[in-house]
Amino acid sequence: MFNTTLLDKFQKLETPFYYYDLALLERTLSAIKKEADTHHYHVHYALKANANKEILKLVKAYGLGADCVSGNEVKRAVECGFESSNIVFAGVGKSDAEINYALEKEIFSFNVESLQELDVINELAGKLNKKASIMLRINPNVDAYTHKYITTGLEENKFGINPYEFETVIEKMKSLSNLKLIGLHFHIGSQITDLKPFKNLCVRVTEINQWFLNKGFDFEHINVGGGLGVNYKEPDTEAIVDFTSYFKVFKDFFHLKPGQKLHFELGRAVTAQCGSLVSRVLYIKNGINTNFAILDAGMTELIRPALYQAYHKIENISKLNIAAATKYDVVGPICESSDCFGKAVDLPETQRGDLIAIRTTGAYGEVMASRYNLRDQVKVVYSDTV
Ligand code: LLP
Repeated sequence: MFNTTLLDKFQKLETPFYYYDLALLERTLSAIKKEADTHHYHVHYALKANANKEILKLVKAYGLGADCVSGNEVKRAVECGFESSNIVFAGVGKSDAEINYALEKEIFSFNVESLQELDVINELAGKLNKKASIMLRINPNVDAYTHKYITTGLEENKFGINPYEFETVIEKMKSLSNLKLIGLHFHIGSQITDLKPFKNLCVRVTEINQWFLNKGFDFEHINVGGGLGVNYKEPDTEAIVDFTSYFKVFKDFFHLKPGQKLHFELGRAVTAQCGSLVSRVLYIKNGINTNFAILDAGMTELIRPALYQAYHKIENISKLNIAAATKYDVVGPICESSDCFGKAVDLPETQRGDLIAIRTTGAYGEVMASRYNLRDQVKVVYSDTV
């Protein structure tokens, strides 16, 4: 991803910053579009992964819809040109103000996560003289076999409506005249690299879809969420995820009823590989057992390693063709011991001033940045304007 021309440009820039390779993003979007179109599937990009406006403009240009989890994300999607008819809105705790905004915009669907939320949306829609299109977010109890913080489809998780509540939902729907139930929504977790959990999801969705059909609900839409993982270990060998195999699982294992449309909400697989966090080494501190490379980026710019013990490939891009020589604990400047990007990382002999790239940070990087320690807002550099 990095070459000497780019490095010369980076040398003049203030660090840390997120660098986005927009050409790679476009190739990724084009691969998604091609595969999804083959099957007539609808992909809504999950803004939570990266809601940067430049990125959203490209996502929109490739015809994807938007998947939002807050009123501000719905606003951002609208501002960036996504049509309301292509916006879905999930989340266990939608506030009245957020619901009212989305009702005014007449979004495609609210993904409703609890029985009480049905009542609230119905009431607010009534006051605005609107009919809200909703899908039921179902907790399918399917294990995603991923980190416990990013597993969402198990009974113990707070998300969605459980199967034992279905009868109550059906009963309730009879009196909720301001709601239009258009489908079912699922999402089992994130960073799923083995396709088997998606196959299990398909089997569950087929069963639940049939259960509702037997009760007289012939849904036009099924939304299977996102979750497709990326290769954090080798970002360059697999810069674009194998979308062909991913969509094929749904083609093979979930049989759509005639006229039914299948929706996806991909986030990470769209943007992760196009981003790197670029930082400078401030200090090298050699100890008896541990050498530290102290960067000017920390957990305030990228929290994933501290929060999920997530692995990100770390490269000394000032010494691109030099072999690894020493192990460093690569850490940030924040006053927390968890402010560590990687332990015992093999790097070439590293010096103050070297540029370090933390790879695969285009998803859940910039969006999760904080101002802790009164840090500056993280900067952004794009490949087309650098
Ligand atoms: N749809 C729903 C309802 C979701 O909750 C999520 C992610 C997605 C779609 C998109 O999932 P993706 O395709 O990106 O896996 N901050 C964590 C990830 C949290 C994911 C939350 N939900 C991380 O850095 O790994």
